[in-house]
Amino acid sequence: MIAFILNNKTIKTHNNAGMTLLDFVRYEQRLTGTKIGCREGDCGACTVLVGTLNEKNTISYKSITSCISPLGNAHGKHIVTIEGTNLPKELTVTQSAIKENHASQCGFCTPGFVVSLTGFALSESKNNSENALDAISGNICRCTGYKSIEKAVDDICEKLESADSKKSLQTLIDNGFIPSYFSEIPERLNQLQIKSNPQSGMTYVSGGTDLYVQKADNLINNTVHLISDDDSLKGIHIDDNICTIGAGTTVTDLWNHKALNTVFPNLKKHLKLVSSEQIRNMASLGGNFVNASPIGDMTIFFLALNSNITIINPEGNERQIPLNQFYKGYKTFDLKDDELIKDIQFELPSRHTKFNFEKVSKRTHLDIASVNSAISITVKNNSIEDAYVSIGGVSAIPKYLFKTSTFLNGKPLNKTTILEANEILQSEISPISDVRGSSDYKRLLARQLFFAHFTALFSHQFSLNDFVQHA
Ligand SMILES: Cc1cc2nc3c(=O)[nH]c(=O)nc-3n(C[C@H](O)[C@H](O)[C@H](O)COP(=O)(O)OP(=O)(O)OC[C@H]3O[C@@H](n4cnc5c(N)ncnc54)[C@H](O)[C@@H]3O)c2cc1C
Ligand code: FES
Ligand code: FES
Repeated sequence: MIAFILNNKTIKTHNNAGMTLLDFVRYEQRLTGTKIGCREGDCGACTVLVGTLNEKNTISYKSITSCISPLGNAHGKHIVTIEGTNLPKELTVTQSAIKENHASQCGFCTPGFVVSLTGFALSESKNNSENALDAISGNICRCTGYKSIEKAVDDICEKLESADSKKSLQTLIDNGFIPSYFSEIPERLNQLQIKSNPQSGMTYVSGGTDLYVQKADNLINNTVHLISDDDSLKGIHIDDNICTIGAGTTVTDLWNHKALNTVFPNLKKHLKLVSSEQIRNMASLGGNFVNASPIGDMTIFFLALNSNITIINPEGNERQIPLNQFYKGYKTFDLKDDELIKDIQFELPSRHTKFNFEKVSKRTHLDIASVNSAISITVKNNSIEDAYVSIGGVSAIPKYLFKTSTFLNGKPLNKTTILEANEILQSEISPISDVRGSSDYKRLLARQLFFAHFTALFSHQFSLNDFVQHA
């Protein structure tokens, strides 16, 4: 049985865990404020909030797209649809800001925007427009024009700031951001006495953000094996300079991790390029690796960190392999059907190591890469001690550049080395022409992103002009 709280109502259902949360909300509960647009996580019309009880008996809320989320992932959670944000007699601050700023025309997208912005009010993010705009990075409006939505966002931030910058649940209730029943939810979730559901079915589903786009019809009526709440796949630990990250860790978990943000000062800038806030809240590392897309952003990221992955079978036997040995061909990899990726480990960068990630896509948000690339490079006395370079979108697999990386080791860090390394890089890749660009264009991007690593990391030494004559 799946048990959760939907808005102010306790739900206990035997519906199939693989059906989408969107269909349950609209067709079983008749809550039709949550809209259906693309059914692919791309438009945000179906956004709902998921509240998870923390150890300290508080709740953290995150936005997700319900069209690609399995109902079973709602087990033990508080799910909030647009109806659940309503106050009894007046508009909430968020609803009113949308109205006052004329940020809605046909209104189809509006519930999604309101829910995402209510999620922002409930989040720990600082009250500024940049963070609030991130919160709606997965919401698309086809008719209003974004200026009026931006004005509404500014109003919401101002009102949040004047209410209380710490945004406690009670302050949000007192100031009309959310209805008062929210304050009872932690206690009510505790009373649900949630036991984890026994899992069956061969298809492992974590966030579902790849699976529900690729084969939703297979999942809706079949048994699924949900792993996003599996504690053994969670957690980020740093021990003796080795960082171990559970495969169920989401992109948002990385984003929020203080120590990782210190080690990788540009982490948030890099992760902003990955999908949208709603998708990042669901998307796991394990899902990104096993989806095996040649342009998987997290795969490219961790390949350049020279990571190992731990694979575990149902008997609990573990084996460890380098991530750069995992992929065998297009969408084929070294994993049996019943095996899981348990975690990923890498050595934390030393004082002399720099890391960079670059991505080119048609849109900044909510778009997969045409080409993406990452580098981890250690330089001492202007000599390259070691380098690990990865690149996506130019081969059948997310590509670790063995030859280019080896070539860089021990070389002086100068323009000649970089130009020669690019020649080797070009010999290692084999892009094909497709909707994301022609083969020639992708070669050009691969070269430019490789140069961009050096201009970003060693800006005092190189500028893009250094490489222009070779364009
Ligand atoms: C709108 C949208 C935008 C997106 N944008 C991006 C983007 O910018 N960059 C990007 O890289 N990706 C993007 N994606 C793809 C997707 O979000 C990521 O690949 C994500 O990391 C997948 O994780 P998941 O938990 O949702 O995987 P799921 O869909 O749950 O699973 C994917 C596959 O991995 C398997 N699996 C999951 N976890 C494990 C595990 N621990 N061990 C073994 N097998 C496992 C599943 O069985 C399945 O085969 C986007 C997707 C959507 C819908
Ligand atoms: S319907 Fe478009 S994101 Fe869900
Ligand atoms: S108001 Fe019509 S789609 Fe946004």
